[in-house]
Amino acid sequence: MAKARTTYFCRNCGYQSAKWLGRCPECGQWNTFEEEIVAAKVSGKKNPALSPSFESFPKKLTEIRLEDETRINLRNDELNRVLGGGLVPGSVVLVGGEPGIGKSTLMLQMALQKMGLKVLYVSGEESEQQIKMRSARLGAGNDDFYLLTETSAEAIFTHVAKLNPQVIIIDSIQTLHTDELETSAGSVSQIRECANRLQQYAKQTNVPVFLIGHITKEGQLAGPKLLEHMVDVVLQFEGDRNYGYRILRSMKNRFGSTSELGIFQMTGTGLRQVSNPSEILISQKDEHLSGVTIAATIEGMRPMLIETQALVSSAAYGVPQRSTTGFDPRRLNMLLAVLEKRSGFRLATKDVFLNIAGGIRVDDPAIDLAVVSAILSSNEDMPVNPKTCFAAEVGLSGEIRAVNRIEQRISEAEKLGFEKIFLSKYNFKKGSPKHFNIEVVSVAKIEDVFRRLFG
Ligand code: TYD
Ligand code: MG
Repeated sequence: MAKARTTYFCRNCGYQSAKWLGRCPECGQWNTFEEEIVAAKVSGKKNPALSPSFESFPKKLTEIRLEDETRINLRNDELNRVLGGGLVPGSVVLVGGEPGIGKSTLMLQMALQKMGLKVLYVSGEESEQQIKMRSARLGAGNDDFYLLTETSAEAIFTHVAKLNPQVIIIDSIQTLHTDELETSAGSVSQIRECANRLQQYAKQTNVPVFLIGHITKEGQLAGPKLLEHMVDVVLQFEGDRNYGYRILRSMKNRFGSTSELGIFQMTGTGLRQVSNPSEILISQKDEHLSGVTIAATIEGMRPMLIETQALVSSAAYGVPQRSTTGFDPRRLNMLLAVLEKRSGFRLATKDVFLNIAGGIRVDDPAIDLAVVSAILSSNEDMPVNPKTCFAAEVGLSGEIRAVNRIEQRISEAEKLGFEKIFLSKYNFKKGSPKHFNIEVVSVAKIEDVFRRLFG
């Protein structure tokens, strides 16, 4: 018997190699190669839905009519925003995230809304009963919602050809398999082949397709990374599972900006859209606690005031601990080194714990000053006025650096009733602004901040 021909694929990025490799030359990951059987494709069984029905020929750009961009309103402001103002017909959107974060809930909830479109939800993970139960909780309002529990790509396309849905949701791409390949569902070649067919279908029929893809921290499943270049939009759903808040980030968008993000809260009746994030990310307490400060950040395009909490205490055992939630631990170490070396605060022998409220990951460097102030506040055991907020980056020499879109940050703080905002003095070279109803404190060094807060 002839030996089946096999090849090796990188689970992370889909790189193909004839032999096993320890490290992927494409994405640099270790130990990601898996053997897969590559059988010749079964010929003569072409899916009728996929055969090209149009003749392609080169056209002059000037001859191509610019069609009005019609976007589908998904009746979900946060989703519309992340997609760049609604869903583009014929686009393929990948929704990635860790298992249990709420991807199915997000898609189901969107599909169940009255949007006047025929939606097909294909689930390879949950039974009809499970989805029915869940949809009862989410409040179903779409009469044109069809559910199909199926994992075979051929069967799905047969149903799609009969039903002619206007939106298709696949939950998840890792559960699909096509009979044309002998490998099991979830393998690199299966994922790629199934996604490819769905993509062709979307482009030929102008029907938008959502693909749900799981990401695991350990990368045990073939990652959605290998799909990233095939799809039009990549959305990532993230958040700390122990907290209710979820952020939907746009990682790639052929039809809009990638700096948009949507914020949701997971409740007992599904995901709630959070249109004013600042109000929920600040825990309203009356007592003044040390180690708590508010940062005026901008995530994506949206200003958000976020609470940062620090706890500094003497290290009981030898090596001091540093632990963070929602903040880069290396950045914390850098800020601690600056405090130690440039400003003379003795923190090397202390444990430092840092939390960003809501378990939300913050990338904005403007949070630095709030983090440093929270650490100093906890170290001195002196509270910072809760009506004060901060927006500046801290540099390696302890200088307070300017951040972008400062007017937007100040007006958000002002709108939420803050009385004072600390900024870098380099943000306003031409004198401090007069038109704000909030006291603007310009600082140049960490020592200035310390003096203004606790001096
Ligand atoms: P799910 O959408 O199944 O996650 P994923 O598809 O990303 O794996 O959501 C899983 C979690 O969401 C689950 O732990 C329960 C919780 N949840 C709620 O808290 N409220 C709800 O209304 C729903 C539907 C789910
Ligand atoms: Mg799911």
